[in-house]
Amino acid sequence: MARVFSGVQPTGNLHLGNYLGAIRNFVPLQDQYDCLYCVVDLHAITVWQDPKQLKAQTREVTAAYLAAGIDPKRAIIFNQSQVAAHAELAWIFNCVARLGWLNRMTQFKDKAGKDREKASTGLYVYPNLMAADILAYKATHVPVGEDQKQHLELARDIAQKFNHDYGVAFFPEIQPLILGSATRVMSLRDGSKKMSKSDPSDASRIVMTDGADAIAAKIRKATTNPNLLPGAEVLDESGEVPDAARAERPEAWNLLGIYAALDGRPLKAVVAEFAGSQFSRFKQALTDLAVAKLGPIGAEMKRLMDDPGYVDQVLKDGGDRARALAAPVLAEVYDVVGFLRP
Ligand code: TRP
Repeated sequence: MARVFSGVQPTGNLHLGNYLGAIRNFVPLQDQYDCLYCVVDLHAITVWQDPKQLKAQTREVTAAYLAAGIDPKRAIIFNQSQVAAHAELAWIFNCVARLGWLNRMTQFKDKAGKDREKASTGLYVYPNLMAADILAYKATHVPVGEDQKQHLELARDIAQKFNHDYGVAFFPEIQPLILGSATRVMSLRDGSKKMSKSDPSDASRIVMTDGADAIAAKIRKATTNPNLLPGAEVLDESGEVPDAARAERPEAWNLLGIYAALDGRPLKAVVAEFAGSQFSRFKQALTDLAVAKLGPIGAEMKRLMDDPGYVDQVLKDGGDRARALAAPVLAEVYDVVGFLRP
């Protein structure tokens, strides 16, 4: 069976964008693939993390995986630092990837900001570690949002260069699984910015553990304008929002996209249903839907976070299984590279 690998960083404030853009989409893949879902704590520390909080945040992502419906008996749920193969293979990939490749990574430029001299060197080689995550298991299918596509292309380039340089057909080709249209959930306060864990305004995001009252308040306060909701005639032939239309009313399209994703319906059907409505009516419907879909998941997450013994056991079991899968791959890589082993 083909293998899926994906990861979520334990950096806190898991929000609707993480859920709709990533975690939710991991669930149905369990039926078709061998799945590994990782909490990428090694990636998280490329920017400063308070140690106590990092532990809590690792349990939070694990709880989100479980509450969303990932079955720890079928899929492997684990945290990256428990499996040394990730760091070991990443070192080898540091020696395969070229400086020029990493210099083109837009996420590094965004995250490093203006003062690049102060960025950690880990942040710079972040994509090499991501390639190691996937290739330590020879995974072929990687569900990610739009923003990770460049990193996946780099992972493909690394696999190809390794195979070429060592004259082997060892690493497989990686296919991105780009998920649904709601992979880009925008801020509730400013529809031109992505929903983000680091936005200073709590009202800009719905976090996965928000209760009904918080969800209702945030949707009520979401930025909108007095115009009525747009109709389906604005959409293009494939049912997508044309860029110009999105730029004109980013907040409206964001809320409609969230509705469609939460309801598991095509955007076009949702737009047709609310065409010409007042925002107040639509926001009420969105609140009811969001509370119905997210409420139980948030409640289950809280229950799991109150039971760290269970969560840690899931991670330990997943780590044991992941280690067993990665060990023969790493042994072969070491041999190919020419490392002597006992
Ligand atoms: N970089 C990814 C993100 O920030 C997380 C990640 C790390 C990942 N390793 C991965 C995703 C491997 C897919 C596969 O979203």
